[in-house]
Amino acid sequence: MYLTPEEEGMLNGDEGLGVQYAMQALAKFGDAVQAEKMVPIRQAHASYSAWFIAREPGLEWLRNLVDLGAKARVPLTSQCAQFDLEDYDLLQADPDIVENQKALSNAHLQLGSVGIWSCSPYVIGNQPMFGSHMASVESSAVPIYNGIFGARTIRNVGQGAILAAICGRTPYFDMHVTENRRANVLVNVEAELDPTSEVDYTLLGYWTGEQIGNRNPCFNTLRFMFNSLYRTLRAAMATAGAPSIFHIPGLTPEAKTIADAFQNDKPEFTITFTEDDKKATQEKLNTATETDGKIDFVDLGCPHYDYSDLMRLAAMVDGKKMHKDVFFSVWTSRATRQICESTGCLNVLKRAGINVLCDACPVQDHGPRFYGKTGITNSGKQAGYAWDISHAKVFVSNMKDCVKAGIQGHMEV
Ligand code: F3S
Repeated sequence: MYLTPEEEGMLNGDEGLGVQYAMQALAKFGDAVQAEKMVPIRQAHASYSAWFIAREPGLEWLRNLVDLGAKARVPLTSQCAQFDLEDYDLLQADPDIVENQKALSNAHLQLGSVGIWSCSPYVIGNQPMFGSHMASVESSAVPIYNGIFGARTIRNVGQGAILAAICGRTPYFDMHVTENRRANVLVNVEAELDPTSEVDYTLLGYWTGEQIGNRNPCFNTLRFMFNSLYRTLRAAMATAGAPSIFHIPGLTPEAKTIADAFQNDKPEFTITFTEDDKKATQEKLNTATETDGKIDFVDLGCPHYDYSDLMRLAAMVDGKKMHKDVFFSVWTSRATRQICESTGCLNVLKRAGINVLCDACPVQDHGPRFYGKTGITNSGKQAGYAWDISHAKVFVSNMKDCVKAGIQGHMEV
């Protein structure tokens, strides 16, 4: 691949051993994917931040980069850790894993990462400009960066995003190239979607992911009342499929119209989401329908909630109390929780018996503890993982039903 004189200098060690290591790895990767050149990036978001994924080899790799003097040269944020880094007692985390997680988190910080430990980095400052290039991980965040912000990123692995942040560059291929961003499947939304209920959007997302694999969908018409609706749509789509971008004409910056989304070409095919598809998807994700309805947990905040989501939840639970046998958790970033604390929203949630947790993902934290139990969530992504990882049975419904079930201790089946 072509490298500029500055990039050649990096490769040859002009900017130190850490940059040399990172550029050598990126150049090899670029050659492997037949990228013609590197492209400068403005920011990055990297995983490899949860102990159960990185483990000893990951920690050693990160420490080696630190020892070589590597440091991010563009703003870099961190994906989820394994558990809430302050409330790990509440979550009964294994003390050895707590120490390992702290060491891993520390290595990320030493590389210059901003420790947001969140899968919704765009909510808390990592917001790219339209048309800018970046290197992001996270199957739910990448399509939001591409499809909602109009930034350009591939679905990186954690190490790739870290190396790109160290060099300020990434190979120019895939989503960085305009032609590859073209929509190729038209999604005709025929079913009625309640714009105040996230469950309809999560069902649409899950169903679409199953149909398209890694193709680029364009939705013919969608209305969103809350930001979390397109987040839950996107997250569910990434669970059942693997698209890097989605187009919503009028919302996606580069697609004012359907013709823009398809770059004036024709769709490879059209799919139609009907009422029957909606019902069938809900039945598939509702793995708890055969139970007596009693629930052990409620999980909200997948992807991590923003402040407006927490405000909506606080308004629903103000003055109410969750059932004593139900572990009700809502996941967000620490920065968002601090905002909630300053406005009193956090107190309302705590008084209702809700655990507002940060820094991690319910799947990573609850996996072992919820093994074989029953719960409710409003996220299709969480529903898929709860079954795959913990064999937990879940109901999938909207936030209002989650709150009602949390108070009653059971879901009406
Ligand atoms: Fe985030 Fe975990 Fe959901 S990383 S998108 S909360 S599965």
